[in-house]
Amino acid sequence: MKSLVTQVAIIGAGPSGLLLGQLLARQGIETIIVERVSPEYVLGRIRAGILEQGFVDLVREAGVAQRMESEGEVHDGFEIAVDGQRTHIDLKRLTGGRTVLCYGQTEITRDLMEARSESQLVTYYESSAVELHGLQSEKPWVTFKCRGVSHRLDCDYIAGCDGFHGVSRQTIPASARKEYEKIYPFGWLGLLSETPPVSEELVYCKSERGFALASRRSRTRSRYYLQVPLTDKVEDWSDEAFWDELKRRLPADAAEQLVTGPSLEKSIAPLRSFVCEPMQYGKLFLVGDAAHIVPPTGAKGLNLAASDVAILFQLLKRAYRDGDVACVARYSEIALRRVWHAERFSWWMSSLLHDFDACQVNDMDSEIASRFTASELDYYLNHEEGQAVIANQYAGLPHESII
Ligand code: APR
Ligand code: PHB
Repeated sequence: MKSLVTQVAIIGAGPSGLLLGQLLARQGIETIIVERVSPEYVLGRIRAGILEQGFVDLVREAGVAQRMESEGEVHDGFEIAVDGQRTHIDLKRLTGGRTVLCYGQTEITRDLMEARSESQLVTYYESSAVELHGLQSEKPWVTFKCRGVSHRLDCDYIAGCDGFHGVSRQTIPASARKEYEKIYPFGWLGLLSETPPVSEELVYCKSERGFALASRRSRTRSRYYLQVPLTDKVEDWSDEAFWDELKRRLPADAAEQLVTGPSLEKSIAPLRSFVCEPMQYGKLFLVGDAAHIVPPTGAKGLNLAASDVAILFQLLKRAYRDGDVACVARYSEIALRRVWHAERFSWWMSSLLHDFDACQVNDMDSEIASRFTASELDYYLNHEEGQAVIANQYAGLPHESII
């Protein structure tokens, strides 16, 4: 057994774990990351890339913002199209100057990984049998196997940044946590292509045939999504079938301009709302997808992960720098307030824009429910104050200083 010691053990090298590690390193706080898969596998995951100002500020504080700032696109607004009728949501005007940055999660993860290896910070990739121990004691520890060698990592705290399927949340005894979950009766089929995007801004489309999203990665790379039944398999969808269906769901003028091409990647993701309360247990803190999942409609997943990171980072800094070790007990309470805001907004955006028959939150029959939804959309899209409600939540609540 090889013995290791650090201050904060981080489980998972996704965006949450890597960002936390980078921020702590800049404060002289040591971390070791233990990750189940290889760096290439982590970077192979295609995920959303709409960054709120709070996220951008945090990446700057971590000293990793250079490429993001030169290659990311500032978006002043986005569109919502309902049955072909397009409404522009002017984020900048409606929020008093806030915008979002369009920069893929894969890219930000790559930047964080590179920064970590340049600073020679330790990451154990391709680790198995990861187990957490002594969470209620003064000195917790992690055991894992890497390249055939068993390791024991002693630490002060453990940050569980290991995503929805990770080991951290499962280590908390079931009697000490409550989980809230809603699984939606459809998924998103995503397609990435080296084609010029159909629009400068994102277009969220509600149509009779279901939801579609026109997103982008750059001037030459597009990302599109279609709402599909959960029973569909990615093999059921040829590229041609995807493009045909997308054209039918986009507003007519956008459909006419759509440039199609071979897919670089195509996958189906289920939609889920999920929260684990509390987000901590003794010396273990759950961060990002390990603690909560949102449906992608509000582009909140990555931003919410970053707000957990910001809160935990501030508390750990205070514990190490000022000796205020008691403050870390407040992590879950502070983080959950923001989590529930983002959960509610993501659920609401999803329920307004999808074909939601099977997902009614009450037992209204679907005809009257769809009339109510149409009227709600009319109110939010065609009144200034309604648009402002959407814009302020989409652009994200500011990260408050908790110190
Ligand atoms: N041990 C070590 N690492 C693990 C384990 C384990 N038992 N289980 C999972 N992991 C790793 C995964 O391989 C993954 O690299 O933890 C990492 C978790 O990364 P993400 O799932 O990307 O979660 P997070 O870093 O919180 O990022 C949140 O990702 O899913 C999106 O919408 C979400 O954009 C948000 C962001
Ligand atoms: C994406 O570009 O992948 C994306 C953008 C916005 C969303 C979801 C996904 O709401």
